[in-house]
Amino acid sequence: MSYLLSKENFTKLGEFIYRKSGISLEVSKHYEKLAKHVDKRASELSLDNFRKYFFKLRFEDKEGLEFQELMNAITVNETYFFREKDQFEVLVNRILPELHKTLPPSKTLRILSSPCSTGEEPYSMILHIVEEGTVVEQRDIEVVGIDIDSTVIKKAELARYSDRAVHAIPKDILARWFKKKSLGYELGDELKGSVDFQVVNIFDKAQMRSLGKFDVIFSRNMLIYFDDASRKEVAMTFYDMLNPGGYVLLGHAEYMSRIVSVFNAKKVDTTLIYQK
Ligand SMILES: C[S@@+](CC[C@H](N)C(=O)[O-])C[C@H]1O[C@@H](n2cnc3c(N)ncnc32)[C@H](O)[C@@H]1O
Repeated sequence: MSYLLSKENFTKLGEFIYRKSGISLEVSKHYEKLAKHVDKRASELSLDNFRKYFFKLRFEDKEGLEFQELMNAITVNETYFFREKDQFEVLVNRILPELHKTLPPSKTLRILSSPCSTGEEPYSMILHIVEEGTVVEQRDIEVVGIDIDSTVIKKAELARYSDRAVHAIPKDILARWFKKKSLGYELGDELKGSVDFQVVNIFDKAQMRSLGKFDVIFSRNMLIYFDDASRKEVAMTFYDMLNPGGYVLLGHAEYMSRIVSVFNAKKVDTTLIYQK
């Protein structure tokens, strides 16, 4: 099968993607996926070679729509409810009660899910918060979910999920907060709309700044797609976005100590949390 994208041009496009999104692609793993995307877009835009596509992407994409198409095609959005469940338990049993005690009573406690993919992670936070019950009754809590991929953000807003996505939710909790559909489940009206979802590129400083400050940031299973320099940049962005005393939680295969040394690492049972 021959594609418009040559292996040599894969390197050029890969560098462009890396610079804009931090995602580093390898020819051995990602060539075919990227080449198929270039062929698809070139055909839709009636462009007959890679050079024209790449020119459009770099110089004629003022609204960022072509870049958005590219991001939507290359991101890996794997996620499910209650993934790495112990972290949600640490959030409700340890972090939120501690922050609730230290923050002024009228202050909203803000949590960021970055990246949130199709919404399972921030909704898992909400489910744990409402099930646990105590802090949420006394304090305003806001959950924001961001992702670079606009298709996953649209899905998160719809809050319709497959059986697989909800498989780890205990049956009683599923029955309480979800509606059974002919195919899968839909989050009930009480919790739909409880997360503020936004399409945001973590490397876009202006977009990130506009989100404001947070008390807790979950950033799970994204840094694995970045190289060391990008991981460092993201970790420092989180540091700047956190209120003093706030926490970052990473995925189980990600360690802040290997990235930056500005956070104070604490172990709660088996879960590592990083405090500013
Ligand atoms: C594997 S999912 C992780 C979802 C969730 N945090 C979890 O652990 O289940 C990784 C997500 O990172 C997003 N992503 C990758 N690069 C990004 C960037 N530069 N800015 C924002 N999101 C990004 C992808 O679109 C994808 O949805």
